[in-house]
Amino acid sequence: MKPEGLPSSLSVVDRLTEEHKQQLHALYQGEWWTRGRTLEETRRVVDGSQICIGLVEPSGRLVGFTRVITDFVFKALVFDVIVAPGYRSAGLGDRLLSLVIGHERLRGVKSMELYCLPELMPFYERHGFSDDVGRVRFMRRVAEQELPQDAVAAVHQVF
Ligand SMILES: CC(C)(COP(=O)(O)OP(=O)(O)OC[C@H]1O[C@@H](n2cnc3c(N)ncnc32)[C@H](O)[C@@H]1OP(=O)(O)O)[C@@H](O)C(=O)NCCC(=O)NCCS
Repeated sequence: MKPEGLPSSLSVVDRLTEEHKQQLHALYQGEWWTRGRTLEETRRVVDGSQICIGLVEPSGRLVGFTRVITDFVFKALVFDVIVAPGYRSAGLGDRLLSLVIGHERLRGVKSMELYCLPELMPFYERHGFSDDVGRVRFMRRVAEQELPQDAVAAVHQVF
């Protein structure tokens, strides 16, 4: 499928092959929040996401990716919006978001959410995202093994 607005040589895939997962693993190593993910974790992340969207060159190379975790009714959380460095600023990021927002399985979902750094807010605002979330606060519980050992010890001393 070649949606309107996509460079004509790229196609959209909704299933990643093992090769794509390996290429995604390489893309992950270039971004601050995904760096260090192992290939096995990358496979599990893809397999555990209900929706994956990839942009692929005719050669089969994955050059754009995003994924969504959702209940298909109330919430859809968009993760890992990444365009390969050589393809940036050509509209592929916009295209990935349009594919998510227009996705037939997500059309009725009441609230679509994502995390981003402040500098990327204008990029997401173009697609209707807003940081106006009322009094809601973002909370996180980090698994103990991901904390430095001295932090774990400190937590155990306090509690
Ligand atoms: C963010 C990203 C997905 C955008 O993809 P893209 O194909 O370059 O996006 P588009 O061409 O549709 O839009 C580009 C516009 O997005 C905005 N933008 C992209 N990256 C930005 C950044 N790091 N800081 C601020 N604005 C940014 C700019 O307005 C940019 O316009 P410009 O090219 O004229 O400067 C891509 O830059 C990327 O993969 N970045 C690294 C991974 C990342 O940070 N992903 C977002 C996680 S929340």
